[in-house]
Amino acid sequence: MLSEKEAETTRHIPILLEPITDFLADGIRALPADSKPGVILDCTLGGGGHSARLLEKLSLIAGAEKHRVLGVDRDLDAISRNQARFRDSVATGKMEIHHGAFSESMKFIGSRPIYGLLADLGVSSDQIDSESRGFSFRFNAPLDMRMNQTKGVSLLEWLENVSETELAEVIWKYGEERFSRKIARRIVDLRGRGQIPKDTHSLAGAIRSVFPPSMRHQGIHPATRTFQALRIEINEELKELETLIREGFPRTATGGRIAILSFHSLEDRLVKEEFRNRDLYELPFKKPLQADESEVTLNPRSRSAKLRLAIRKVS
Ligand SMILES: C[S@@+](CC[C@H](N)C(=O)[O-])C[C@H]1O[C@@H](n2cnc3c(N)ncnc32)[C@H](O)[C@@H]1O
Repeated sequence: MLSEKEAETTRHIPILLEPITDFLADGIRALPADSKPGVILDCTLGGGGHSARLLEKLSLIAGAEKHRVLGVDRDLDAISRNQARFRDSVATGKMEIHHGAFSESMKFIGSRPIYGLLADLGVSSDQIDSESRGFSFRFNAPLDMRMNQTKGVSLLEWLENVSETELAEVIWKYGEERFSRKIARRIVDLRGRGQIPKDTHSLAGAIRSVFPPSMRHQGIHPATRTFQALRIEINEELKELETLIREGFPRTATGGRIAILSFHSLEDRLVKEEFRNRDLYELPFKKPLQADESEVTLNPRSRSAKLRLAIRKVS
């Protein structure tokens, strides 16, 4: 349960806020006056930063009041925070908030046209800076790492059952960690001796121990890449994105706008491949947009973000 203060506030700073919300708002501005009431789907509501700015911009567009921002997140803490943050917008029918994953979001939309779709992938600062969710080894917490606390298996349950080969593959594929095999061997070895790491500090310690001594205390923490890989696996992040591309993108109306902000090369590759189909998409920019230096200085997490924008040509 979130404290009252936590429930009202977010630590997350939205990335590329103006280009994303301008792009989506311009899509609404371009709709014919007699367009059917539709939705702009923010399927990664997170701290609500992009949705809040979008609502501000929509309030300045004549006729936009018949459309709704539909915010979805699979994290219950994010849902509670946003229910507090957007109480007025929900009460006045400008917004809807739903708990669920991308793979479930189409059912919230029903037959309404999608005029905009935003996915700001990965974790929010509220998740990564949480002291209890297990996303970061900065705090000692049980090995959970699930974005949706009500579904799936925790990291600890997964580590208790995974084979050494699969563990090494995950760490390599999603973390590009060159010590993946050694890390997997170490964890499986500890498990065999009844000493499986049960919290973030012991897992980070076990990972660090396989690194050569000269690398243990240099640069980024040796467990960083492995933690990222495990998070992607536990939350099936690539599979979710594939589902969104397969089920959500074709549901976007003709002229509907899609904005995908990714933080991992595998995610960006999936989006890039999809947008390559020029019969289906018009691309305002060939290359992905990235945060400029001033944004990176203010918000270092924006450094690795890549934004791809597309306009759906056919529905
Ligand atoms: C980077 S944050 C979004 C931040 C948000 N744009 C803002 O401005 O505050 C990503 C959010 O998406 C959610 N999320 C990630 N993958 C998801 C999925 N497959 N389905 C639903 N929500 C997801 C996470 O729980 C997290 O709250």
